[in-house]
Amino acid sequence: MIRHIHVTAVFILVIESTFGLEPPQDVKIVESDLQWKPPNDDNVLYSLQYKLNSKSEDEWLNVSSHIGTKLKSFRITPEFYGAVFRVRSEKEKHISEWQYSNPVQCLNVESCVPVMNLNVKPEMVHLTMTHMDRSLEKEYGEHVEFNVSYWKKDNRGYPEVQSIIISRNEDIVNLEPWQNYCFQAEYLLFEKPYGNPSEEKCEIIPERSEAVKRRVFFYSILATVLVSAMCGACIFLLFKHHKKVKQCLQPLHLEIPDHYLEVLYNGFPLEACPSPSSQSLRSYDMITVMEHSNVEENCQKEEQEKRSST
Ligand SMILES: *[C@@H]1O[C@H](CO)[C@@H](O)[C@H](O)[C@H]1NC(C)=O
Ligand SMILES: *[C@@H]1O[C@H](CO)[C@@H](O)[C@H](O)[C@H]1NC(C)=O
Repeated sequence: MIRHIHVTAVFILVIESTFGLEPPQDVKIVESDLQWKPPNDDNVLYSLQYKLNSKSEDEWLNVSSHIGTKLKSFRITPEFYGAVFRVRSEKEKHISEWQYSNPVQCLNVESCVPVMNLNVKPEMVHLTMTHMDRSLEKEYGEHVEFNVSYWKKDNRGYPEVQSIIISRNEDIVNLEPWQNYCFQAEYLLFEKPYGNPSEEKCEIIPERSEAVKRRVFFYSILATVLVSAMCGACIFLLFKHHKKVKQCLQPLHLEIPDHYLEVLYNGFPLEACPSPSSQSLRSYDMITVMEHSNVEENCQKEEQEKRSST
């Protein structure tokens, strides 16, 4: 018997020296526990390391509580989301190969939040829900749902929160245009809240284009009516105070000295250019008439612009 044990021990020693120490077996994450099975040797110690991003080239860091200890499991906390672990056996001078775990997923930490995408459309929001990873969906299938709450942000006092339970995509309709709506989602697992709520996302809801068009049309008609009324009033005033306007303009014109006018008319044959004093009265009539027609033209232009912009 003793001899048998001796032979086995020698055999193990031979294996260890030629093939190295046997590494931990069956490294896996069960819920939030990283576990491994020890080889058939009580004197083996383990060292555990991790890397927060499984794909990065960063160096491996020690899990300080699990360096050269007999512990055979590790409780995974939320800050290790996305990390990978590796563990090896150590005995005296011997060390085994590293054994690697899968990355830590939502199933292993309760800290995952739903990923919510908002696509804002007139008077509605199209919600698309996804996960940080697919582990919950794989494990629980249709028992994973989302409880989406939404409320108007600048509602004075305590906002009225509405909620809707959805499984993937959903339209939230009949939202008030120009209001700032906030949305927040939380996991439901078997209809019970799970994990933390996502961050709030707020969006201003646009108006339907028909409503915008209708309002633009209304305002343009209103503007046209106003401008027409103002033009009408101007024309009326001009007609009514026809004489006064003429008198107002007269002294202005007369201030221009005759020799200036001569210079102005210099290029023209003298016969074709009547004397400024006899011209004066008639030119005021022209100014008045031109002013009327200018005003009318402007009105027409404005109306045309208004019409073409609608
Ligand atoms: C991890 O711990 C081992 C043993 O204590 C030490 O030799 C090594 O330098 C440590 N590694 C890091 C990255 O701290
Ligand atoms: C969904 O969220 C709302 C608002 O937070 C809450 O009142 C409601 O109870 C939740 N529904 C479920 C099924 O947990």
